[in-house]
Amino acid sequence: MTITSLSTNQDLDAKRLREAFGVFPSGVVAVASEVDGQLIGLAASSFTSVSLEPALVSFSVANTSKTWPTLRQAAHLGVTILADHHGEVCRRLAGPVEHRFDDLDVTRTGDGAVTLDDGLAMFDCSVYREVEAGDHTIVILQLHAVGAGIQGADAGRPLVFHRSGFGRLADSA
Ligand SMILES: Cc1cc2nc3c(=O)[nH]c(=O)nc-3n(C[C@H](O)[C@H](O)[C@H](O)COP(=O)(O)O)c2cc1C
Repeated sequence: MTITSLSTNQDLDAKRLREAFGVFPSGVVAVASEVDGQLIGLAASSFTSVSLEPALVSFSVANTSKTWPTLRQAAHLGVTILADHHGEVCRRLAGPVEHRFDDLDVTRTGDGAVTLDDGLAMFDCSVYREVEAGDHTIVILQLHAVGAGIQGADAGRPLVFHRSGFGRLADSA
């Protein structure tokens, strides 16, 4: 066994942290709503499932987000799990606000949740709790409805975010 000392706090600068966090692969979701007739949303790789009863998921949003204060005003939010062909869509959803929904087919609910039509799974949610966590806020969302694409062998594959780039799952043997 090799024993190396993990260095202390002085190494926790943002660049090193980003690199280390980026080693961990994640999926990506679109969080979106309609507020005052405008589509609003962002891409988030911090999504995770939380609880089955009640049904909860979460994502973390940067406290600097200009979108979140408006996005959270909708009674319901939509969450869409992005597929591996959504790399460009994901970049757009993180880019200039006025173009985030260009060329996207979306479905809106009467409560304001917005989901992408060709996602792998879609959730209709409302904000359950917001937890301050450093420079981010952990947003816990309660699910009201779930829709999923094709299951099994023909199911689409998720967009994978890893080391600041997009990848896809390899075929299983
Ligand atoms: C792959 C990817 C994952 C992202 N994940 C998050 C995330 O988990 N939380 C977050 O606040 N922003 C995330 N962003 C950035 C947001 O999509 C968006 O660019 C950011 O919130 C700034 O825009 P805003 O000021 O309109 O919110 C991610 C961007 C990309 C490309």
